[in-house]
Amino acid sequence: MINYTEKIPNNVDLGRDRVLQRALEHWQPAYMGWWYDMGPNESHNFDVYLRTAISVEPDGWAQFGYVKMPEYRWGIFLQPRDEKREVNFGIHKGQPAWQEVPGEYRSTLRRVIVTQGDTEPASVEQQRMLGASCPSMYDLRNIFQVNVEEGRHLWAMVYLLHRYFGRDGREEAESLLARRSGDTDNPRILGAFNEPTPDWLAFYMFTFFTDRDGKFQLCALAESGFDPLARTCRFMLTEEAHHMFVGETGVGRIIQRTCEVMREHKVEDPSDVRALGVIDLPTIQRYLNFHYSVTLDLYGSDVSSNAANYFTSGLKGRFRETKLDDDHVLTNAEYPVSEVVSGKIITKNVPALTALNERLRDDYIEEIADGVGRWQRVIDNAGIRFRFTLPHKGFHRGIGNFAGHFISPGGEVLSQEAWKNHESEWLPNSKDYAYVQSLMSGRVVEPGRFANWIAPPARGINNQPLNFEYVRFN
Ligand SMILES: [Fe+2]
Ligand SMILES: [Fe+2]
Repeated sequence: MINYTEKIPNNVDLGRDRVLQRALEHWQPAYMGWWYDMGPNESHNFDVYLRTAISVEPDGWAQFGYVKMPEYRWGIFLQPRDEKREVNFGIHKGQPAWQEVPGEYRSTLRRVIVTQGDTEPASVEQQRMLGASCPSMYDLRNIFQVNVEEGRHLWAMVYLLHRYFGRDGREEAESLLARRSGDTDNPRILGAFNEPTPDWLAFYMFTFFTDRDGKFQLCALAESGFDPLARTCRFMLTEEAHHMFVGETGVGRIIQRTCEVMREHKVEDPSDVRALGVIDLPTIQRYLNFHYSVTLDLYGSDVSSNAANYFTSGLKGRFRETKLDDDHVLTNAEYPVSEVVSGKIITKNVPALTALNERLRDDYIEEIADGVGRWQRVIDNAGIRFRFTLPHKGFHRGIGNFAGHFISPGGEVLSQEAWKNHESEWLPNSKDYAYVQSLMSGRVVEPGRFANWIAPPARGINNQPLNFEYVRFN
């Protein structure tokens, strides 16, 4: 028998939990099978300079060293328990936080955990081919770090399923390894996690936009009255920050490189910019439009009785719930949502409880706008006249009040035909994808070298120099 306490760093007393150990005896080999099949392609023998969480103490969650990814120590960590913690919202507000699953919420909670858990392996699957076209060793190391941590996030959710949901939980844990991103018969649960991530610009956009959805969902679950879920999500958030950093700086470095080349050669026209081997700004805008809009769909319908139930029962809170200054019950509160009525977008107030998806989406949009503003400053600082715009939130939506409508990025309601006429200006078209992929036909892996289309980062990982050997290929 495997010694799990040694193999799996944890703070859940795994060594003494026989039930959990038995569950993991089956699941852990299946997980390894999934990693070998669906983890980063042809990477199993690489030594990668990774950080591994080995405890939740400040000095324990970021230990750096060379690791072969299949030997990564995927751990199980929860934020330490606060004995005085209460349910902080909904009808159970003021009760002690639940340490076991309340029977009446069992299936709802399981669904919430499975839906979150499903996104974690999905993104690994989406990104598995990108190692072959990395722009540098630094970036290759970063994508691998994101991948192993998404793997750990899957472990985090599977821990909850095994520990708190008995046989149903074990079955769900197996299904998490059986679904496949983009598969026609057995796809991942949420739309954005079935979209391909075909190139590195898409990867950085994904980690900026879609990992940030992860952050907001985790923040809402970190408020949960079900304490083990709250504490698990709190700890996951420490890792999510790095994923968003990779995305924001990745896109930022691409913009920076494009601007340098535009200035140096005094060119503005996208075809002239492309001729110089960097990604033109309008293409970056189209990628932005795509990733933003498909990620907005992840928040669900604008008006949702499920969202109201999750909140009222104390399972899923709002962003920074305990910092909000209201009654945390929301019986009489209202919240504005938009819809399309007779060809016009109108805003109306609805019961705030039913609008919690929309509210979380709005919180997310605010943070996205700040990040896009930081990208804009790179362009402004280069003295180039180009403005990124965040599309209207109704643009290119498949879920919620805007689904089935044809909204321009500027927020006009169009006919389907008029919208289709502009689609290739607004969303990445086949030529854009072909061009971006033509830049990424092979990998750049000499230490300290970067592909022509991206600027080096400001600094290396863990204070290492940029020409550090972040990955040893063996
Ligand atoms: Fe994650
Ligand atoms: Fe992530």
